[in-house]
Amino acid sequence: MPVLIAPSILSADFGHLHDEIASIASADWIHVDVMDGKFVPNITIGPLIVEAARRASQSLARPLPIDVHLMIVEPDRYLADFRKAGADVLTVHAEACVHLDRSVQYIKQLGALAGVSLNPHTPENVLDYVLDEVDVVLCMTVNPGFGGQSLIDRVFPKIEKIRREIDRRGLKTLIEVDGGVKPENAHRFREAGAHVMVAGSAVFGAKDRKAAIDAIRRA
Ligand code: DX5
Ligand code: ZN
Repeated sequence: MPVLIAPSILSADFGHLHDEIASIASADWIHVDVMDGKFVPNITIGPLIVEAARRASQSLARPLPIDVHLMIVEPDRYLADFRKAGADVLTVHAEACVHLDRSVQYIKQLGALAGVSLNPHTPENVLDYVLDEVDVVLCMTVNPGFGGQSLIDRVFPKIEKIRREIDRRGLKTLIEVDGGVKPENAHRFREAGAHVMVAGSAVFGAKDRKAAIDAIRRA
């Protein structure tokens, strides 16, 4: 399975979002970090920016799917809005969902890919009875809230366990990793079994975004 690179626009210049998205045209997904100041300490963006990102993506020769990472409490209240704004993947946090199965089913009803994210300390077994329904497991490799943090090594055994379980069940669920991914460490995530690499500062902090994307892909 090929590696998919998902630059996080959290580290982009929002005054020039269209050009910033054009600069990552060689990536695979556009990762959008939605934060509510409650589930995480930071506040970022809402559906309006997702809509702007979608418009920018649609002006590319090869439009990229919009991967929306909801770091918000009660995400069910906003899923339809984000889907309408253009989300192709909708990811909720297991820790933010009292009825995770219901949230996953709702995302699928809305016609998006259903993602479930786990904070670094959250054990993989919260997925046991929902994994078969999940399209993407987003493993946080930093505590969510900010770009530019260094990755927490303790998460690797969990990624390996989730990989083994997906394979054991014969599922097509993708493992996505988010936080501290760089060209120098991307091979470790690959070896642990991840296929989707989110990278914010490593891509948007680089002068040559295409080279940064290539370097993560090659690793
Ligand atoms: C963190 C966000 C990440 C963040 C990654 O809460 O979910 O997507 O933008 O940024 P880097 O790649 O800089 O760690
Ligand atoms: Zn994210």
